[in-house]
Amino acid sequence: MTVLKYILFIGLFSTGVLGSVEGIRWLPCQLVEEFFHRNSEGHLETSFHHRDVFLQFGKTGDLPEFPEAVTFLVTVHAGSKMDMRHYADGDPGDLRCEIRRYSTAGIQVLWKGPEAQEDDVWFTCALQHSQGLFSITTFLRHRPATPPNPQDDINKWSPIGERETLSTTAVMLVLTRSPAVTSALMRDPTLHCQFAVDHKQPDLTVEWRLQKHSERKKLYSFSSRSGTSEGRGVSVRGLSNGNASLLLPPTTTASEGIYICSIYVPPLYGSQDISLQILESPRVSLNVGPTLQLSEGESQKVVCDAEGYYPLDVQMEWLRQHQSQRLPEILKTVLFSSHRHHPGGTYSLSAFFFLQPTARDSGYTYTCRTSHASLRTPIRKSFTLLVTESASWTDIICGVGMFAFVGIMIYILLVMLRYLHRAKKESKVSDTVGIICYFKL
Ligand SMILES: *[C@@H]1O[C@H](CO)[C@@H](O)[C@H](O)[C@H]1NC(C)=O
Repeated sequence: MTVLKYILFIGLFSTGVLGSVEGIRWLPCQLVEEFFHRNSEGHLETSFHHRDVFLQFGKTGDLPEFPEAVTFLVTVHAGSKMDMRHYADGDPGDLRCEIRRYSTAGIQVLWKGPEAQEDDVWFTCALQHSQGLFSITTFLRHRPATPPNPQDDINKWSPIGERETLSTTAVMLVLTRSPAVTSALMRDPTLHCQFAVDHKQPDLTVEWRLQKHSERKKLYSFSSRSGTSEGRGVSVRGLSNGNASLLLPPTTTASEGIYICSIYVPPLYGSQDISLQILESPRVSLNVGPTLQLSEGESQKVVCDAEGYYPLDVQMEWLRQHQSQRLPEILKTVLFSSHRHHPGGTYSLSAFFFLQPTARDSGYTYTCRTSHASLRTPIRKSFTLLVTESASWTDIICGVGMFAFVGIMIYILLVMLRYLHRAKKESKVSDTVGIICYFKL
């Protein structure tokens, strides 16, 4: 029965029938446990064990939906700010859930929330959306039936039995709705970070740090003890409502990195990593207009410029296609400038070729296609080539001759018309008609 229920659940999950996270009663989850053992040389070694468990939402004493599995029963009031479901949205099938033990090692402070005791143990539950809609970390407090004796075991954890149900209470959560942010240059994005704690006026430290490569820089900090903050971009008033979002100053290429929002309420330390990536699109232009007219044998350098993009990777191609062709051909004679680096951190590149057409090239459309991480579809810039047959000296002489001939003919015609006019008055029409007919022939 329960296996069926599970299969049905997974089915509903993957088809997205469940729709909203807010109302779900349980979630499949991974319990990741870290174990230490001493190897033959007496050194401590770490190993990780992954177990399939269930996260179930309800009240103390609820029976597990899946009795043959380990269940973490999270006791929350529906709609409470400590309910992680309240912050999760999107399709439940896109959720990743991971539970880990959390050690307060070294911090001998009792949690100030209701009903907390010294023997309590901690877990974190990380709920992440696979397409990056959000990431939530919830701290779960659990009171073990028998307090562990720290001397017993190097792991200092009581093992969790095959079918155990652990009753837990959510006491703090930290989340972001912007785990991966992309921004163009000169924008001021807000990096979202929010938290909730189960008691009023917690002893709170909020910090934002930027990690680039291996370097960490403190951007902002606030301490409720001193009531002071350092740095800018976070509203202190917002912090009292759990809003720790950071408003960044206008972005440059140096703004890229991992921004870490951390919330410390002793003895719990929660954080979210937010990656900021700068994506600036190229401006693409050609050095020729939409139609390029060349005479046979004439030569023209055709340049496609992509300017002001970031990051460096860009793909530029020249294609050509005739109306009668179904697919364009890629030009193989294209040359590239080297990447030019500009003071603002952006780059430029040119793709060019020399066009020396024959009459057969006339009517082809040439397209410069530029692809870049900042673009959903490549930028295309095109021109159509028209090739005129080259003018020889005899052509020119013939042209001038024709022009002169037509001019003389018009002159004669005008003279004749005047003559006709006068002749009409003198009633000598018939002779003139004869002359005009002669000219027409
Ligand atoms: C949270 O704070 C940020 C930055 O101060 C602000 O832009 C945002 O509107 C606030 N969000 C809410 C829901 O108040």
